[in-house]
Amino acid sequence: MSELAEFEGAATIEKVAALCRRRAFVFPSSDIYGGLGSSFDFGHYGVLLNDNVKNEWRRSLIQEREDVVALDSAIILNPQVWVASGHVDTFSDPLVDCRTCKLRFRADKLEDSHCGRRPSKRPGEFSECDLTEPRAFNLMFETHVGALADDASRAYLRPETAQGIFINFKNVISSMRVKPPFGIAQIGKSFRNEITPGNFLFRMREFEQMEMEFFVPPGDAAEWHAYWIEQRLNWHLRLGLRPSHVRVRAHTGEELSHYSTATSDIEYLYPIGWQELEGVANRGDYDLQQHIAASGTKLEWVGQDERYVPHVIEPAISVVRSVLAFLCDAYDEEVVADRPRTVLRLHPRLAPVKAAVLPLIGKDTAMVEKARGLYEELRRSMSAEYDDAAAIGKRYRRQDEIGTPWALTIDEQTLADGTVTLRDRDTLEQERIPLEGVRRLLADRLDA
Ligand code: GAP
Repeated sequence: MSELAEFEGAATIEKVAALCRRRAFVFPSSDIYGGLGSSFDFGHYGVLLNDNVKNEWRRSLIQEREDVVALDSAIILNPQVWVASGHVDTFSDPLVDCRTCKLRFRADKLEDSHCGRRPSKRPGEFSECDLTEPRAFNLMFETHVGALADDASRAYLRPETAQGIFINFKNVISSMRVKPPFGIAQIGKSFRNEITPGNFLFRMREFEQMEMEFFVPPGDAAEWHAYWIEQRLNWHLRLGLRPSHVRVRAHTGEELSHYSTATSDIEYLYPIGWQELEGVANRGDYDLQQHIAASGTKLEWVGQDERYVPHVIEPAISVVRSVLAFLCDAYDEEVVADRPRTVLRLHPRLAPVKAAVLPLIGKDTAMVEKARGLYEELRRSMSAEYDDAAAIGKRYRRQDEIGTPWALTIDEQTLADGTVTLRDRDTLEQERIPLEGVRRLLADRLDA
């Protein structure tokens, strides 16, 4: 089990999951059929939040840099890719079965699991437990391509997006103006038949990864590895994770994946303890060499007086693990004027809705007209909501729960002098500002 440390904040996984369901961030998948283990569907605000996280990742890696290009490769690749990459042989977890309760556990995570007959005990601790010896269980989902379901048509749903990048190395260097050091970044779905999923979004069987392979001259790999650990750490902190909830931990020799010469995890202190948020690996030239050997294609950099197979630094994270960390960090409960409120203190750039426009009296035609005008103006450049139903306090609470940083209220005074109230989600301060300056002011705050 991960080392126990104090999570500073009101969040528990259960509370965050309940809010996510209540407020249309995340729904259990296939719910009306009893669900499907560790599969989730994203509701309206979940889609917006996921998109914001992906956009921030793309912004920092692609838009704000000149040395990283984008890619979107296929999910089902030629199966030889996974033989060459080592996934067919080695992408497995050690598993034990219990002959008594028929449950299956990860041998290396028994201390995080519960006995099927006596859930208060770990597997193997109850007198009736009868565990098999550990054996390797490959995590890749298999499928078949074409009309025949035989060995020749067997294919895999990709377990990582990285291999799609390696097999496109030659396409990219011959079509884009790139030379090492440079990166190829990709966001897309990956699939793993995880045996011990759980803890809400933390370990899913189908999840989007955000991965970047950064190709460097072999002698520079260690330096770039340190560089990317720092860059990625700063990204999480800039978007609001508390420094006390984030740390970097280098993998020990036994922990290293089959392809890695060095990996450091950026860990987050989830309410369940310290866990991997993002991995930053030095993959050396393992993958390119494997694909050179298996495909016979030269995957190398040829410069004026040099020729080499680049080494690769890879920051890899999933959207859900990032989203779960942001949600846990942002979740807060407090009592304001004797009334409890739940609030998501998300960074404004991550917040699904940036501004809510609320006429104080929903039945006042003049207020409604002004409010709708402001809403139409705002939503041309940011995600905004209009709401005239229920008492104003209730409308504020709803926006607090979905993390909307700014609420704009149209009242009598607006009609008289053209000003509106801007309410800050976190401080609850209300300032009076001119209606015509609202869009610019919020756009500037989002850019800050
Ligand atoms: N290409 C390297 C790679 O895939 P990994 O450590 O297996 O490395 C990278 O995965 C990241 O993907 C992890 O740091 C984590 O953020 C995320 N991830 C891995 N398995 C996941 C799962 N079952 N559910 C959600 N996210 C997962």
